Amino acid sequence: MSKALDQYVDLMIRCVANTIYKDPSNMSVLRGRAAYSEHERTLGRDWPLIAHTMIGVKRLRSLADQVIEVVENDIPGDFIETGVWRGGACALARGVFNAMEAAERKVYLADSFEGLPAPSPDIYPDDLGMQFHTYEPLAVSEDLVKDTFKAYGLLADNVVFVKGWFKDTLHLIDAEQFAIVRLDGDMYESTIQAIEALYPKLSVGGYLIVDDYGMIKACRKAIHDYREAHGIAEEIVNIDDVGVYWRKLA
Ligand SMILES: C[S@@+](CC[C@H](N)C(=O)[O-])C[C@H]1O[C@@H](n2cnc3c(N)ncnc32)[C@H](O)[C@@H]1O
Repeated sequence: MSKALDQYVDLMIRCVANTIYKDPSNMSVLRGRAAYSEHERTLGRDWPLIAHTMIGVKRLRSLADQVIEVVENDIPGDFIETGVWRGGACALARGVFNAMEAAERKVYLADSFEGLPAPSPDIYPDDLGMQFHTYEPLAVSEDLVKDTFKAYGLLADNVVFVKGWFKDTLHLIDAEQFAIVRLDGDMYESTIQAIEALYPKLSVGGYLIVDDYGMIKACRKAIHDYREAHGIAEEIVNIDDVGVYWRKLA
């Protein structure tokens, strides 16, 4: 990797995670004691008040390395994230593709842009009792995410917004192949719907990333159910005890 690319990636990560201005976590503000923790921001354990992503520096670095790798090794396909929140992780992917002169690869952002669905425990019992749909900070509008992309100078035709519930949208996406599929929908429902719709389109040599694997049991269960049903045996690699990935070998 060239020094210029390395420095661009490093700066993008500092910007999207906002380790520069060090905004406090949402929770600390709600408790009336605004605080920033370098440790939590590195590991993506806080919901930042202002930063463009909550996935933390380690998962961002891992994502950037994977984007670089699929371009360098000619693994064909686009990038998709299911569950984008403020869009910072997608902006990083877009920026790195552009910097590597791979602007023809699209970045798809799939989200309701109004938060998570209320659980449907009759269909997905593992989601019983989940309250994410009541958390107002998780609902970020499409316009705000577009503003994020504009702020980085990255809003263009190669950024595709897929608005709606995953169950209604993901199987209709026109992309033929993905080099990277990043799942970040927290719930069993959101994880299983995304992997079912998108894994068949993941290129051999491409990456399947699961953001919440180490943190949310229902998400982990969805991944194990899918892997078992489809005989997937690729090794799951831990990033930071929350996010994981594997590389599709066949
Ligand atoms: C934890 S946030 C994603 C964090 C983001 N990847 C980042 O970089 O900060 C979860 C996102 O998933 C979306 N989401 C979850 N389940 C969904 C579903 N079934 N359909 C559409 N959007 C969903 C929510 O609207 C929210 O934006």
